[in-house]
Amino acid sequence: RSVLLLNGPNLGTLGSRQPEIYGTDTLADIEAAVAREVAGRGWRVICAQHNGEGELIDVLQRHRRVAGAVVNPGAFMIAGWALRDALADFPPPWVEVHLSNVWGREAFRHQSVTAPLASGVVMGLGSLGYRLAARALLELVPGDRP
Ligand code: DQA
Repeated sequence: RSVLLLNGPNLGTLGSRQPEIYGTDTLADIEAAVAREVAGRGWRVICAQHNGEGELIDVLQRHRRVAGAVVNPGAFMIAGWALRDALADFPPPWVEVHLSNVWGREAFRHQSVTAPLASGVVMGLGSLGYRLAARALLELVPGDRP
């Protein structure tokens, strides 16, 4: 089985993007760390990052049968209504991740249109948050433990 790791706009430049806010781990570092978290369960990770909302929706529609997903919608958390609709029609459990603690930042980041649909949200823990979200999926997805 597979887990989908989906990252939205401006997350492909992690490592150099505002490191004081988002840390110094690159997206490749994060993808490798998530793969390690779920490898023990025999799960593979499908990684995708897009800056456009349409491409993110395409990925969700293409991978409806994964065991679960970890999603950082980036700024589409703020007004990504089409992404929200796609997530509403995405059957697997998924966890929303934000590297930064968006509640401690600008007011326009204090609400996420996607978070209410998630099984849970991890925020403010930097790249560790992705690993914790992956671990949560291991608990949330029943079954196939070897
Ligand atoms: C982010 C928070 C968003 O508000 C912001 O637009 C991002 C990154 C985070 O991971 O902290 O691009 O999703």
